[in-house]
Amino acid sequence: MTQPAAPVRLAVIPGDGVGPEVIEATVPVMRAAVTAEGGELQFDELDWGGERFLREGAVMPADAAAVVRQHDAVLFGAVGRPDVPDHELVWGLIIGLRQQLDLAVNVRPVRAFSGVPTKVRDTDGVDLVIVRENTEGEYVGAGGLAHAGTGHDLGIEVAVHSRRVIERAAHHAFTLAEQRSGRLSLVTKSNAMRYGYPLWDRVVTEVAEQYPGVELEIVLVDAMAARMIQAPRSLDVLLAGNLFGDILSDLAAVLAGGMGMAPSANILPGGDAPGIYEPVHGSAPDIAGRGVANPVACLLSGALLLEDLGHTRAAHDIRQAVGGALLDPDHHTPDLGGNATTADLATAVLNRMET
Ligand code: NAI
Ligand code: MG
Repeated sequence: MTQPAAPVRLAVIPGDGVGPEVIEATVPVMRAAVTAEGGELQFDELDWGGERFLREGAVMPADAAAVVRQHDAVLFGAVGRPDVPDHELVWGLIIGLRQQLDLAVNVRPVRAFSGVPTKVRDTDGVDLVIVRENTEGEYVGAGGLAHAGTGHDLGIEVAVHSRRVIERAAHHAFTLAEQRSGRLSLVTKSNAMRYGYPLWDRVVTEVAEQYPGVELEIVLVDAMAARMIQAPRSLDVLLAGNLFGDILSDLAAVLAGGMGMAPSANILPGGDAPGIYEPVHGSAPDIAGRGVANPVACLLSGALLLEDLGHTRAAHDIRQAVGGALLDPDHHTPDLGGNATTADLATAVLNRMET
């Protein structure tokens, strides 16, 4: 197998709360995986996040997108802290970067690992992936406030759905479905919303003609929420807009053992923007600082990153090592019902990388 010769240059944004804890657990594992195949990783750590916001009034520098573009990809922990309004940090950093870099889709694979207990029964063999549109929909940032402070305050949040953006998300989802089982479920809400989601249904049905090997179904989001619990193995690739994709991916994470288990990739398929790879979870302030966060979501995000950069062997090795470590309940963090620390689980994974 040929490997990319140049060192891989990564930006690392640990962020807030458990972000730095799971990043610290992940970086050595990624390094070990790439070193084992004769490659080299370089990490530039960026101090973007809540602390910077409190210090300097901005969560990241004005030229953040340009800084990111000097790298091959970004590994991101999470942002959010109780003493800063959420929208300042989440919008200021991750949603902002997704838009500035035009990272079209957020790919969120969910896989049940053997030996990991779940709150939902009968999840063995669950293996699905949510392709979430990442730049428009309800998170496009259009709207405003009227009558502020009068007691009759009015909030207007406008959802935007455009053909170009639906098409590019759809092409990525169909391509994935072709590589997997050939089944694609589009999630919309066209019975109650009359413009944006019917447009999704039409455009995705048109795109489907280019992928004769993929069977498309259109499912209403509320029905999909129930089906994900009742029949999760009936699902393979889900395509959803920004809001529904966000909500359903937390639900899907529960099928794999919880928020600590779900990785994601923000990417522009076929484009030249660096991808941003991050756990689906946030900064988890309720457990931050105790060293007990589950690092698996971040480790698997690292594997996605390496896979997308062509280091498929390193990505495979990380997934194997994570799967192996999770077989032993002694390595389970408290969210999985165990007593292991973040470092215990990360060390168990690292040991498997080195054997
Ligand atoms: P959250 O994902 O941080 O936490 C939800 C629940 O999952 C909590 O009980 C938490 O303890 C648990 N959890 C999360 N990650 C875990 C891990 N690695 N191991 C074990 N348990 C874990 O979501 P929440 O509480 O709604 O938000 C907290 C903060 O994070 C907020 O400020 C929010 O805005 C921000 N946030 C940031 C995101 C990002 O940076 N991409 C995404 C989601 C939320
Ligand atoms: Mg979310």
